[in-house]
Amino acid sequence: MSRFRNVLLVAALAALAAPAIAQTKATGLGRPALPEEIAAWDIDVRPDGAGLPPGRGSVKLGEEIYLERCASCHGEFGEGAGRYPVLAGGAGTLNKENPDKTVGSFWPYASTVFDYVRRAMPFGNAQSLTPDETYALTAYILNMNDLVKEDFELSKENFASVKLPNVGNFFDDDRETSEKAFWKPQPCMKDCKPDAPKILGRARALDVTPDSKTGPRVE
Ligand code: HEC
Repeated sequence: MSRFRNVLLVAALAALAAPAIAQTKATGLGRPALPEEIAAWDIDVRPDGAGLPPGRGSVKLGEEIYLERCASCHGEFGEGAGRYPVLAGGAGTLNKENPDKTVGSFWPYASTVFDYVRRAMPFGNAQSLTPDETYALTAYILNMNDLVKEDFELSKENFASVKLPNVGNFFDDDRETSEKAFWKPQPCMKDCKPDAPKILGRARALDVTPDSKTGPRVE
């Protein structure tokens, strides 16, 4: 009996150890990614400019490329054709009922524009833009939002000098401090209200259900 138990124990230990052994052995599938493949994926640009490729592009050149490759969807002035996204305007609307969230009114960093355009636009032909074209388009979008002048040229070197107006409204999650007052380490999970709930009104008494005479006509 005890021998049988030992056999079981050994079998169980072997089963536990098996995945660990499998993980350390090469699977024999695939191959290491080539540096060029990693470089093709590694295209993110951070707010401090890290990740920007060398290059430059003017508002003027950006306008030319924009009219050719972007305006059909985003409108000649960034106003958005049909239901395509608006890229310019909306300043001062963020606290209104229908805020116009654009690069100029809402986005925190110019790097987001560069990164997004380079990664995803023009829609349907993503990643077809050269670094210089992306600099030029970013410059033009900033210009449409009155954030840089018409003779501005954006480059890797001066990128960090561009500040977007809404940057101050983006901050790290601060709930641990700002909401500390109503955070309870041990929240009540049972019988938390001392009294039974009180019914303050009834839908029928409030007369919220339209009757056949006053309610909307349904054909
Ligand atoms: C065929 C239509 C089309 C074309 C052409 C196009 N876009 Fe877009 N663009 C879109 C759509 C659709 C979205 C939204 C995509 C989403 O939310 O997933 C978008 C989103 C964007 C945004 C983000 C807007 C926001 O506030 O979320 C930017 C910036 C942008 N496009 C820039 C460009 C630039 C620059 C070009 C030209 C190189 C371009 N687009 C060409 C359709 C287009």
